[in-house]
Formats: sequence, C-alpha cells, structure tokens
Amino acid sequence: MHKIPVGVLGASGYAGRELCALVQRHPRFELAFATANGRRGETAELPGGGSVTFVAPDDVPLSSAALVFSALPHGTSAEWVQRARDAGARAVDLSADLRIGNTEADVVYGLTEARRDEVRGAELVANPGCYPTSILMGLLPLLEEGHIAHGATISVSAASGVTGAGMSARLDLLFGEVTENFRAYGTGNTHRHLNEMRAFVAEEGVDADLIFTPHLLPTARGILATMTVPLTTPMDDPLALWQRRFHNERFIEIVKTPPETRHVAHRNVVRITVQPLAHLRQPTLLVLSAIDNLMKGAAGQAMQNANLMLGLDEAMGLPA
Ligand SMILES: NC(=O)c1ccc[n+]([C@@H]2O[C@H](COP(=O)([O-])OP(=O)(O)OC[C@H]3O[C@@H](n4cnc5c(N)ncnc54)[C@H](OP(=O)(O)O)[C@@H]3O)[C@@H](O)[C@H]2O)c1
Repeated sequence: MHKIPVGVLGASGYAGRELCALVQRHPRFELAFATANGRRGETAELPGGGSVTFVAPDDVPLSSAALVFSALPHGTSAEWVQRARDAGARAVDLSADLRIGNTEADVVYGLTEARRDEVRGAELVANPGCYPTSILMGLLPLLEEGHIAHGATISVSAASGVTGAGMSARLDLLFGEVTENFRAYGTGNTHRHLNEMRAFVAEEGVDADLIFTPHLLPTARGILATMTVPLTTPMDDPLALWQRRFHNERFIEIVKTPPETRHVAHRNVVRITVQPLAHLRQPTLLVLSAIDNLMKGAAGQAMQNANLMLGLDEAMGLPA
C-alpha cells in the first residue's frame, strides 16, 4: 500500500524520538526525515526498536513530506512550521508557539477529544501542552456542562516526570537533585501552560480562575494532576457525567479509584476519576487525571491529530 511520507523536526529530543518510533510502527506512514541540531549526523536507537539517523534542518527537503511534526523548542518551532506550510506540508506543532493564549493566529488547538471536528482535515494543528492535556481533559465535562460555580477558583496541583523538561543539561535536573526528592517549581501561578488553559476555559464560556502549581517527580515520565473544583450545586454521582461524556472514547479511561502514572506509562490515554469532597461548605469535586507526558501529553496525541488531519482512523499506529 502507498505510504504517506512524514517528517519529524527535533527528532533527537524526547518527544521527537517518540514520534519517530510511532511513525516507524504506523501502517500508513513512512519517515521522510528526522532532524537534530547539535546531534545532527548521529544515529540513535528508538523506543521499541529500530534506529534513525538525524539530519540538519537546513538539509531537509520539507516538501518531501505530506505532514511535518515539529518537536522543536518554543520560539524556534513557529518559524519551521511556517517553512513546512510554505513547502506544502500539513503540520502539527508540539511547541507552545501556536497554542491558544500564546498567539493571535487562528490555529486549531489539538485537544483531540474536545476539538475533533476542527482537527479533522485541518492543515495546521497546535498540539496541547502535557500538563494542559491532563488538566483540561479531566475538567472537560464540567466545563462543557456549566457545573463550575461562577467566579470560582479551580486549584490544580500537578507533578511531572523529568522528561517533561526536555533533554537539556541542567544542574537542577541531575540525578542526585531529582532522585528521592519531590519539589514544586514555577510557583506563583506563572507557569507558561496557564495561558492555553485560561484561554481554553474562556473558550468554553466558563468564568473561573485557575491556580496551577507544578511539581517534579523523581521518575522519567508521567503526570498526575490533582484538581479541586467548586460547583454550582452538589453532584450525587459525578462519575456518571464523565462516563457519559467519554463513553465512546478509545483513549479516555474513567476509573473508580485514583489513577496512577504506572497505569498510563507508554500509553496514549488519559485516566480520570472524580469524587465529591466531604466537610466543605461549598460543594466541591476532586478530579484526578493521569497521563504519560510523552505519549498522550505529546507524541501520541500529535499522532492522533495527524491521523485525523489525513482522514485516517484516529487510533491508527497508536498503542492502546
Ligand atoms: N517533553 C515533554 O513532555 C513535552 C510534552 C509536550 C510538548 N512538548 C514540547 O515539544 C517540544 C520538544 O520537547 P522535548 O522535550 O522533546 O525537547 P528536547 O528533548 O529538548 O528536544 C528538542 C529538539 O529540538 C532540537 N533543537 C533545539 N534547538 C534547535 C534549533 N535552534 N534548531 C533546530 N533544532 C533545534 C534538538 O536538537 P539537538 O538535541 O540535536 O540539539 C532536539 O531534537 C517542545 O516545544 C516542548 O515544549 C514536550
């Protein structure tokens, strides 16, 4: 069968390598090129087997790809996405550059289960951040159905494995600084992911504040987000709302017990549970959401979006 050529920019990074591995296992895609900057010319093994040799971005014929994934850093990515678009390729940008809340440009926000109709057939999609994927997917039924108290403050404490910070040499990410330790970072409600989360909440017509405090887990991958949400009225059986909303979704798992990062590792899923909170004057829900930051939080969701953009089955080439 004819295969569709797909390119990966930033292939030597964590998200880019996952993308290369997904492309190589995809029944309808073939890898047209994989770029690196400092590591151009190197050959690397891919997660799950196989290998790839990185080329410099300037040496790549962007027009040889029908679709380009950009897993480049913020600030660098948008320019390369534009070059890919100018060369006639569709593009999925994994960086924050083109996400809602970060740009005036009208780019589809690829939170797939929430924006599927816009993603289908789109030429350009901005893939959501890893934290926003776990948080917004957990909140989605409440946002859509207007259960959140007017003017409420949604409080989010979330923790990520160290691959969330990218493959950069930093003192605070040394093994000795991370292992057997747990700490908050980006405190003060200033993390860059807040822009897209606030913009999404506003798009859903919800008037609420967000407090978001990220933490660093002493693991390689995984995110667990813990959210408290003040409600307009108490909900007796909140789980039923999530079960109804995500009834037909292959990549959303609604569970009765708190989700764990090991249950979602290397999988393209969001695992969610909800529960009313006792002993509070205002009715309040606890929402817990777990993802693999490199799969559903990055490469997996990007592949889901690429499938939809090219008219393929959304789950093609993705692990269950
Ligand atoms: N990590 C996650 O969990 C995650 C989740 C969601 C979204 N994202 C987003 O996805 C993108 C990639 O993240 P990552 O964690 O995979 O980053 P990373 O590990 O730091 O990889 C960055 C990639 O970009 C290349 N690169 C860096 N500067 C470049 C330049 N000036 N020109 C061309 N190529 C350049 C690097 O090449 P060399 O290494 O060869 O220099 C590498 O291939 C980021 O925008 C990030 O925010 C990441």
